[in-house]
Amino acid sequence: MAKTSIVSLVTFFQLIFTLINSCSARNGATAKFYDVTKYGAVGNGKADNSKQFLRAWEDACQWNGNSVMVIPKGIYMLNPVKFTGPCRGFIAVRINGDLKASTDISVESWITFKYVDRLLVDGGGTIDGQGAAVWSRANCIHNHRVCRPLPISMGFYFVTNSKIKNLNMINSKGVHLKLYRCQKVVIREIKITAPENSPNTDGISIAVSQDIKVRHCNIACGDDCINMLTGNKNVEIFNVACGPGHGISVGSLGHSLGESTEVTGLHVKNCSLRGTTNGLRIKTWAPSGPGLVSNFLYEDIHMQNADNPIIIDQQYCPSGDCNNQAQSSIQVKNVTFRNIWGQSSTPVAVKFQCSKKVPCYDFKLQNINLAYNGREGILKSQCMNVHGQFYGQQQPRGGEANVVSSGTGEGVLSVSSELVWGDVGEDWFNAVAEGWGPGSAVWDDLDTSNNLMLPSNCSFGNVQNQESHNSDPQDNIFSTHSSPSYPKGVYSIWDFKGFL
Ligand SMILES: *[C@@H]1O[C@H](CO)[C@@H](O)[C@H](O)[C@H]1NC(C)=O
Ligand SMILES: *[C@@H]1O[C@H](CO)[C@@H](O)[C@H](O)[C@H]1NC(C)=O
Ligand SMILES: *[C@@H]1O[C@H](CO)[C@@H](O)[C@H](O)[C@H]1NC(C)=O
Repeated sequence: MAKTSIVSLVTFFQLIFTLINSCSARNGATAKFYDVTKYGAVGNGKADNSKQFLRAWEDACQWNGNSVMVIPKGIYMLNPVKFTGPCRGFIAVRINGDLKASTDISVESWITFKYVDRLLVDGGGTIDGQGAAVWSRANCIHNHRVCRPLPISMGFYFVTNSKIKNLNMINSKGVHLKLYRCQKVVIREIKITAPENSPNTDGISIAVSQDIKVRHCNIACGDDCINMLTGNKNVEIFNVACGPGHGISVGSLGHSLGESTEVTGLHVKNCSLRGTTNGLRIKTWAPSGPGLVSNFLYEDIHMQNADNPIIIDQQYCPSGDCNNQAQSSIQVKNVTFRNIWGQSSTPVAVKFQCSKKVPCYDFKLQNINLAYNGREGILKSQCMNVHGQFYGQQQPRGGEANVVSSGTGEGVLSVSSELVWGDVGEDWFNAVAEGWGPGSAVWDDLDTSNNLMLPSNCSFGNVQNQESHNSDPQDNIFSTHSSPSYPKGVYSIWDFKGFL
């Protein structure tokens, strides 16, 4: 079934291309061309052209066959426009010229495509949102709860079997390109450029959509390069360069307590993150509505000075006024990070801050090779409530504890570990926590309710070295007993089960 639809999608694009090529060669056109200048549009960078564009669209859309709306070279001022379908045949919008937005911020999106099936938008032109004029009016950064985002440059709503390619998008007021309730859409060769400090100017934002492919895009902006919100299924992101920006993100999810949220099936491959505040990030609010994030694969990712290369943040709270005891109800599971290398610009290169209520599980780490050369400490990982396996190289390391002294009774075990989030009481553990591989890492959220301090409820079995490892996450969970005794030695995190 899936195969058939991919085949039909491919066939559709071949058709469109054949169509366009044959038409531009003027050898017996099967598609009809609708040139906006024939409708009175003027590309002199002065007057608004929205009425002329809309009339050209209406005719192209109503043509009972394949149509191409053409925007020739020139600079076209354009007030907000809505290109609405359904149309009667394949429709292509060829933007060869440059489009410039007005300062109108009353709309959700500047250029809107809605209810269109089999749409192609391309042409190599520039979509200039002229955001600098209004960025000072953005109010969503510090006020997430009640805010009105600035307009999206191009919004695709209920668009199916379509392709958006070869465009140069600059300085959107808000999100550059948004998909909402779309299916089978390919986005490729889109270049997005906005300043690093421009507010909420995400590159591509995808919500409630299915079977979306993003390929060969180059994104520099002031927020997430690619952002995936609730309701997405099967999103592929290949060959994308991101930076500056906030990385490739999922979320934030679960803000609305009454709504259930789900994002399943994400494949991110061969991407690079350069000078971004985050690399690969999943963020959920706490408390949150119920939800599921699952079946993610991140592979072959190059970090070039990302602040937080790998980060799961289930206590997302940008405004800093949240209850830090509250837990997220969004389950994150079956997430694989494979072949992630490069440079972290902060010491904590891997951070899993998962929910205590629904801990992350079935996480797989394979060949993680990150370096930190700064002055703020040594490379490390942090984890909380996460269970999984690791394979191959692990830099930062995790998963071992070196018990340097121990005893029974009060002050059972003393710990020399570096604890970041938890507070170490006296006389307790003295284990050098080493993340999930040999080396050094950070455990936190120690359980002080017991006469024993626990690491942060993280467990990663090393599948290569421990044949007896049982991948059932329930088997990896720490449990407490009173009066344990710990011989000196180095333990893998999962070994602790036998002791605690
Ligand atoms: C990886 O992505 C880059 C662009 O970021 C591209 O030039 C290169 O061809 C891609 N490699 C593969 C194997 O697809
Ligand atoms: C885990 O996710 C991968 C995709 O990354 C998928 O192929 C696999 O079937 C999933 N496993 C389970 C048990 O759902
Ligand atoms: C550790 O995680 C398990 C579930 O994976 C949970 O039942 C248990 O309460 C957690 N323990 C602590 C100390 O948070």
